[in-house]
Amino acid sequence: MRSLYTICYVSKGAPELQEKDIEELFHYTSTANNKNAVSGILLYSLGNFFQVLEGNEKHLLQLYQKIKEDPRHLEIYEVYNKPTHRPVFENYKSTFDIVKNSKDLKKLIAYLNQDQSNSTNHKLKRLLRPFDMLDEL
Ligand SMILES: Cc1cc2nc3c(=O)[nH]c(=O)nc-3n(C[C@H](O)[C@H](O)[C@H](O)COP(=O)(O)O)c2cc1C
Repeated sequence: MRSLYTICYVSKGAPELQEKDIEELFHYTSTANNKNAVSGILLYSLGNFFQVLEGNEKHLLQLYQKIKEDPRHLEIYEVYNKPTHRPVFENYKSTFDIVKNSKDLKKLIAYLNQDQSNSTNHKLKRLLRPFDMLDEL
């Protein structure tokens, strides 16, 4: 049986991070996650990261350990770290997604709106609300 797992956190980008560092991180993350069958999203807005990771439990826990030790962000606030029976993102495109602008975010929220019965889904929408109020990410 597949053991699917979800991790979600918000964090603060390191103050010295430049635009090109973010682009590099986005590129690395989507390539690595697509290679390793990790789904989810990574969003960066006004100095904060928001990330959801879904995939194999063992792989995700190892990855999350590395992410937590990464000096490119700090003050990691964990929202979820638990097994999941109903992945939210597995069917959202077929790739790990970088949410780069308000259009991407609106598409994501529309997707989450499709299934109101999934409680993870509902919580994610609430967490994304402050980001959605910004016109441009
Ligand atoms: C905010 C943030 C999110 C990250 N997300 C991922 C991710 O989803 N997948 C990934 O492979 N690396 C991610 N990384 C990069 C990892 O921290 C780490 O640099 C990368 O896995 C390479 O580790 P390694 O050189 O030990 O293999 C992220 C880093 C930051 C700062």
